[in-house]
Amino acid sequence: MSKGNFYITTPIYYPSSNLHIGHTYTTVAADAMARFKRLSGFDVMFLTGTDEHGQKLQTVAKEKGMQPKEYIDTIVSGIKDLWGTMEISYDHFIRTTDEEHKRRVQEIFKKLYEKGDIYKGEYEGWYCTPCESFWTETQVEDGKCPDCGRPVQKTKEEAYFFKLSKYQDKLLQLFEENPEFLEPVSRKNEMINNFIKPGLEDLCISRTSFDWGIKVPIDEKHVIYVWLDALSNYITALGYPEEMDGKYKKYWPADIHLVGKEIVRFHTIIWPAMLMALDLPLPKKVFGHGWILLEGGKMSKSKGNVVDPVVLVDRYGIDALKYFLLREYSFGQDGVFTNEVLLNRINSDLANDLGNLVSRTVAMIEKYNKGIIPEAKTSTEFDEDLKTIATGVCAKLEEKMNNLDYSNALEEIWKLVRRTNKYIDETTPWVLAKDEAEKEKLNTVLYNLAESIRIISVLILPFMHTTSKKIWGQLGIEEGNGTAWEDTFTFGKLPSGVKVKKEAPLFPRIDIPKELEALEATNKKPEPKKEEKKEIPQKPEITIDDFDKVDLKVGQILECKKHPKADKLLVSQVKIGTEVRQIVSGIAKHYKPEELVGRKVIVVTNLKPIKLRGEESRGMILAAGDGKELTLVTADIEDGSQVS
Ligand code: ME8
Ligand code: MG
Repeated sequence: MSKGNFYITTPIYYPSSNLHIGHTYTTVAADAMARFKRLSGFDVMFLTGTDEHGQKLQTVAKEKGMQPKEYIDTIVSGIKDLWGTMEISYDHFIRTTDEEHKRRVQEIFKKLYEKGDIYKGEYEGWYCTPCESFWTETQVEDGKCPDCGRPVQKTKEEAYFFKLSKYQDKLLQLFEENPEFLEPVSRKNEMINNFIKPGLEDLCISRTSFDWGIKVPIDEKHVIYVWLDALSNYITALGYPEEMDGKYKKYWPADIHLVGKEIVRFHTIIWPAMLMALDLPLPKKVFGHGWILLEGGKMSKSKGNVVDPVVLVDRYGIDALKYFLLREYSFGQDGVFTNEVLLNRINSDLANDLGNLVSRTVAMIEKYNKGIIPEAKTSTEFDEDLKTIATGVCAKLEEKMNNLDYSNALEEIWKLVRRTNKYIDETTPWVLAKDEAEKEKLNTVLYNLAESIRIISVLILPFMHTTSKKIWGQLGIEEGNGTAWEDTFTFGKLPSGVKVKKEAPLFPRIDIPKELEALEATNKKPEPKKEEKKEIPQKPEITIDDFDKVDLKVGQILECKKHPKADKLLVSQVKIGTEVRQIVSGIAKHYKPEELVGRKVIVVTNLKPIKLRGEESRGMILAAGDGKELTLVTADIEDGSQVS
């Protein structure tokens, strides 16, 4: 009976205590696909989990005074709770701290090492701690990580390398021969032109500077680079390499790795190269979806929009949030989230279109036929048109879903929702009800409405299963009775004679201005920090002539030493044009003597000479600061130059 096996994955999440709706996006999409495939007859494996190693987490745990695992456990249980709340239908939740996973990653490392695709060398380059990414000299931009823009650190250490360069040509071939391997296509060109064609360098895959990771099995000083560890989850979760006959055999290669666009590079270059090195089949597709952004950029809680999925789920239910995410945004592209867009979408598509259709229909069946679903015995052109459209949706939906075009998949269903609403206007049941001679016609209309709703309720199952169940309750049907995927191919599966049951509206209409205010209030903004207004002391006014009395010149510090008797003072020999003079300055807290040698500074040259703790000082070096921090005022021109 099964149409085959289907394996879909999300990335494994970094344990983070505040997942926002952007994070839930990948998982919601994967869940809808998994449910769709199960419904349409596939044997599905849906994998998600958490990516728990790396320096960053070790540091965060330490700051909290906890062991990494102890800290991460609390976060991971929060993530599982969130998926529980959202009724995410994953089949397995992998943690990279699972003993099985760790053991299997070590096996993978050994295999690659024995094959000669891992070798020991010396790593010298740049590391971005927040991204856990290594960068070469040419990739780093102004000392900043090219991915996230944060500063990178120079590192040099003994390390193991993966021979990524060896797979350059095979990777190029993969992209060229398999247009469906990476979608959307725009991302493919980026990978080829920005990464593969300029030349792949071997990848540093071990670290010795921290130890929160899986140990390199042949050299325990090293831990395995987090991305090698993390990417392996897609096969270790299936048992590889220990259990090759079970899930691995059944589900690998994956049908879809769903990932956000920022991690496409890891999934379409490093991951296939690793698999090639292991002589394993490659995933059939990597889909890099877009980002959900806030107006003005990245998500953060302080921007006045509620991005906490739990708050949104509490207020509108999981189905509304999932529907919104998948319908509003085009999956491959970025989209901007605002509370207003969310509420408008809920009102128009869910409260008006779907919610009204169901409540009007059930109300009419109660009013005109004592709540019993009648039989359809007549037929008009409106009836036939409705039937054709209703039974044609499933094929279109399948096509859109197979292209990961969630938004248009939902639009296909909503065409039927709107068509059914229009059918009410066309057939005017309230007019038919006034005329006993029209009773059969009225019955047909009522039946067709209920039947169309039944088909809709099955079509929306992958996206909004809780709504489907509510609709079945109202139509008086049991799960399993006309609720299978095949039951959407035929019109007329709904049994007549069943009693409907009116219930609360599926999606109550939202008063948008009022709701926007309420949402704002739930958005716990951090207390705006009072701008520490520093009083900048102001000296009494002077004239240009007063200023002109001060002789400022550029001088170059030739030598500098500590004052023999005073900790705070440095004694410098400063060359100003042809003369060299000694100047004592109170900057020993801020500069080491050797840091000053060679600097060109601004000197007050006509200050009356004085002795400071026994050392003569002829002039003063200018510095700027707030009393705590101090920086020399420097000038990049020839010494002796006049400052005016
Ligand atoms: O990248 N819009 O984990 P992660 C859309 N551990 N998607 C978003 C998003 C947003 N604003 N913010 C996050 C990692 N995501 C690695 C993966 S896989 C072997 C290792 C998505 O927790 C993001 O694109 O940073 C990714 O798909 C998922 O959330 C997890 O991201
Ligand atoms: Mg990320």
